Amino acid sequence: MLQPHVLSVCHVLVLVLCLSAAEDFDWTKNHRGSFYYGTFPTGFSWGVGSSAYQTEGAWDKDGKGMSIWDVFTHKKGKVMYNETGDSSCEGYYKVKDDIALLKELKLNHYRFSISWPRIMPTGIKSDHVNEKGIKYYDYLINLLLENKITPIVTLYHWDLPQVLQERYGGWQNLSMINYFNDYANLCFERFGNRVKYWITFNNPWSIAVEGYETGEHAPGMKLRGSGPYKAAHYIIKAHAKVWHTYDNQWRSKQKGMVGISLNGDWGEPVDITSQKDIEAAERYIQFYLGWFANPIFNGDYPQVMKDYIGRKSAQQGLGTSRLPTFSSQEKSYIKGTCDFLGIGHFTTRYITQKNFPASHGPSYFTDRDLAELVDPRWPDPGSEWLYSVPWGFRRLLNFVKIQYGNPMIYVTENGVSEKMTCTELCDDWRMQYFKEYINEMLKAIKDGVNVKGYTAWSLLDKFEWDEGYSERFGLYYVDFRNKNKPRYPKASVQYYKRIISSNGFPNQKEAENWHRKAIETCSSSNQLLAAEQQRTTAANILRLIHDPLTSHMEMVTEIVVPTVCILCILLSAIFLMFLLRRHN
Ligand code: NOJ
Repeated sequence: MLQPHVLSVCHVLVLVLCLSAAEDFDWTKNHRGSFYYGTFPTGFSWGVGSSAYQTEGAWDKDGKGMSIWDVFTHKKGKVMYNETGDSSCEGYYKVKDDIALLKELKLNHYRFSISWPRIMPTGIKSDHVNEKGIKYYDYLINLLLENKITPIVTLYHWDLPQVLQERYGGWQNLSMINYFNDYANLCFERFGNRVKYWITFNNPWSIAVEGYETGEHAPGMKLRGSGPYKAAHYIIKAHAKVWHTYDNQWRSKQKGMVGISLNGDWGEPVDITSQKDIEAAERYIQFYLGWFANPIFNGDYPQVMKDYIGRKSAQQGLGTSRLPTFSSQEKSYIKGTCDFLGIGHFTTRYITQKNFPASHGPSYFTDRDLAELVDPRWPDPGSEWLYSVPWGFRRLLNFVKIQYGNPMIYVTENGVSEKMTCTELCDDWRMQYFKEYINEMLKAIKDGVNVKGYTAWSLLDKFEWDEGYSERFGLYYVDFRNKNKPRYPKASVQYYKRIISSNGFPNQKEAENWHRKAIETCSSSNQLLAAEQQRTTAANILRLIHDPLTSHMEMVTEIVVPTVCILCILLSAIFLMFLLRRHN
């Protein structure tokens, strides 16, 4: 028998080994195996997602206040073709129809977001609570539950009430933490008896970087190298506060969970044998996912962010780092505030080391000292940034497991787009993307990653932020030219449905059959859509002819303007000839 002290030495050794193993992701391990046939654990949850501003429309209806996206999209030059989410998919009026689509897919969960200004028009609870907005979400939640679909609700998918932006500067101001907490508290109070999965923030990286660094997203600020860090700092604190509110006031009664949804592309070192490239790839991930995940799971910003931003700030002559710091009380208050981690993942980049001198000026992007590359052979059917690289998904999930203590994960977004003009409903590229990405997730589960659910992004084609409607992510095609916004199933609906009903990929023969069957059904949808589009075009032409104001305008632009121009040219020519004659 071992002596007690020998045993404790062994314990310490095992502990040290575990701890050191817990910190290291094996960059050299090859995660690119062949297709894996098998099924997901029983109880695995399958879903689709959407968000309020992207789909609801009804931007100024039933007492809704304005959000920063309403204001941003109404300014010229901010969104492709100056499109807005004013009516989008008209989801606000189509709850029943959309739930029928969810039922058709036989889903377990539906992820949607609540529009803060729809239920609190100014964002401030003491100003006004809009009961009509509450009623809308009540209706949606109740209908989901009646159909045995679990709601996963995001509190903040980017649509901050405009009043909070105007009065306080939005996420540049500490006061957002309390306002957000009041809003979340109201949601727990009014919906928490039925909603058991809460996501505080969707993709805070985008809020911080695109909202406050590049200005591509609302509120469109370009506070390079400082704005994003400040925004992220308050968002992390706001998340933690809401988690504690739930924990203290609601958890015992409502028995739900509160998490956050973080997006992260995978970063793969260009040269796997180069230590510099490995470090650059790790920096890419730490500045993306780790920026938010590390404080929440490990209690502080990633060391590498503190080092790089601190050093560059000093070189730029600043007395303190542009990256704010957490006090030790804050660190312990924030650490552990996540019952489940939402992961949004779409694509991968190759990363190599690249120095940017501090004299370039402050910027989130140059703080990282790296360059992003892509392999031109990677498929990219729709969005310019979205290349299909399935193995990156498994790598990311394994990284999360190792870095953050194997948390419970729900994949909250994963999907691919095609261009607006594409009317092909037989979306081979999406079936392929889902097949391979879901398979990589299955492999990650076999690796020991604790993934409990998957959310395909997205249910419908919808407003794609600064890209307007130019990119279609939907399983269902939406005909935006038709004011009724009809939905048509793409082939991937059938394909995803089979994955769900088989809970994975039982065997090769079956999976190949799914593809064939999906293609068979989508050709009839294609015909339907083509016929409907011809009708819409004809109706639009008729409307133009019959609408007196439009025909008047048409007459002005097509007849009056050209005639006046020609007359002017003729008169000038005659006048010129007259002058020339007199001169001679
Ligand atoms: C992440 C965002 O959360 C979501 O709203 C968007 O549709 C997808 N990226 C695709 O761009």
